[in-house]
Amino acid sequence: MKSANVKELLSMTPKLQEVTVNGWVRTFRSNRFIALNDGSTINNIQCVVDFENLKDDILDQINTGAALRIKGTLVESKGKGQSVEILVNDIFVHGIADPETYPIQPKKHSLEFLREKAHLRIRTSTFSAIMRVRSALAFAVHQYFRQNDFFYFHAPIVTGSDAEGAGEMFRVTTLDDKNPPLNDEGEVDYKKDFFGKETNLTVSGQLEAETYAMALGKVYTFGPTFRAENSNTSRHLAEFWMIEPEMAFYDLDANMDLAEDFIKYVINYILEHCMEDLQFLEQRLLDEEKSKPQAERSEMALIEKLKFVCENNFKRVTYTEAIDILRNSKPNKKKKFKYTIDEWGADLQSEHERFLVEKHFKCPVILFDYPAKIKAFYMRLNEDGKTVRAMDILFPGIGEIVGGSQREERLDILKEKMAALGIDEAELWWYLDLRKFGTAVHSGFGLGFERLVQFATGMGNIRDVIPFPRTPQNAEF
Ligand code: 4AD
Ligand code: MG
Repeated sequence: MKSANVKELLSMTPKLQEVTVNGWVRTFRSNRFIALNDGSTINNIQCVVDFENLKDDILDQINTGAALRIKGTLVESKGKGQSVEILVNDIFVHGIADPETYPIQPKKHSLEFLREKAHLRIRTSTFSAIMRVRSALAFAVHQYFRQNDFFYFHAPIVTGSDAEGAGEMFRVTTLDDKNPPLNDEGEVDYKKDFFGKETNLTVSGQLEAETYAMALGKVYTFGPTFRAENSNTSRHLAEFWMIEPEMAFYDLDANMDLAEDFIKYVINYILEHCMEDLQFLEQRLLDEEKSKPQAERSEMALIEKLKFVCENNFKRVTYTEAIDILRNSKPNKKKKFKYTIDEWGADLQSEHERFLVEKHFKCPVILFDYPAKIKAFYMRLNEDGKTVRAMDILFPGIGEIVGGSQREERLDILKEKMAALGIDEAELWWYLDLRKFGTAVHSGFGLGFERLVQFATGMGNIRDVIPFPRTPQNAEF
């Protein structure tokens, strides 16, 4: 008899058919009701046991966490909340889980506790729901680009370039600690890191993706990226996944249109395919909010928030307009911002971004035309000579979810910008070649996948939306 998964069983019409199912015990009540889950859905299947038909010693082995194979008859359920259940004929114990030592018990565990158990937390309803949504979002990303004639481009992980020029790189080294190569001054020569070259883990696949866009037209990367920033926030990871489309012949407006359309598509996809998980996550948030004062509770529930994003235009505002709004605003009646924005040219802090999105516009915001001084070297200079065609998309509860721009396609201006920032032309000769041979207007953006998963699941901490988070505190697993 072929085994079925729980999701399939729950959608079957019970006709007293014999079924086999494998899974892990979530709870075992009254020595009679096993709630079995196999990860295929948030729901468990109830298996009703009559122990007179089974060997006695098996009773002790049915504990939360044990892996079982159950054979039985699928019947209509008389219990509440499920349409079918299994009347058990036979149980095989694949593996026990000692209740004295198995950490995931049927009670509410804190997210902090579960972070310490990153290898087992996926066995909880919360984490399995998050990771199913994450998987569906990843699938939707590929589907969107495929439907829109993009090619999937694999950017290198080990690279010599620092795309963001922020110096937040993990060095990759083949140096022999005990016998490192030395320079003329007798110091360790890090320029010889990787078989004689200086290399790091990629911070962004953008520069390499540009080379492919300038031949294949529309490409995207979707892979791990690394930032050695020591920021201990609920929005930053040292290793995160980034989606980076890059398009030839797209200006900044076309880039913004694509980003908005793309985000709406992937969120719509989970509304269509992950409703049970989203309902579970929404209820989890509502329960969590009960302990908060009314003023701190969110105005919209999770699913309503997701629908709102899909159904409304993102507000497009220039940096200069945003600065004017911030100068004339107070986040609440008494307090000013912690960092006041007085001068044009200052970088926005997350409190300003969140004010614009959550208090002022009350919808996702695309900020564009930023001062050149606070953005990366490759962004296209505007005619005013002081702003660049950059855009950031800001989301409620998240802040920046996308960073992108139209790229500087003019060789002379790009060289001037690099010189002003002290970037060596010799290091980016291949990038300059793109501007020498068949250069054209082109654009792209990067979307932080974990920030998207955070928004989609309502999780407050980015460590809870990636299987094994890498942060300055945690790289154990
Ligand atoms: O704004 P960023 O640094 O832009 C780039 O890397 C561009 N080269 C992208 C491009 O144009 N192709 O990063 C893009 C996004 C951010 O908006 C944020 O969502 C996410 O990546 N991100 C992080 N997510 C988690 N942890 C971190 N430390 C992150 N740093 C950036
Ligand atoms: Mg950014």
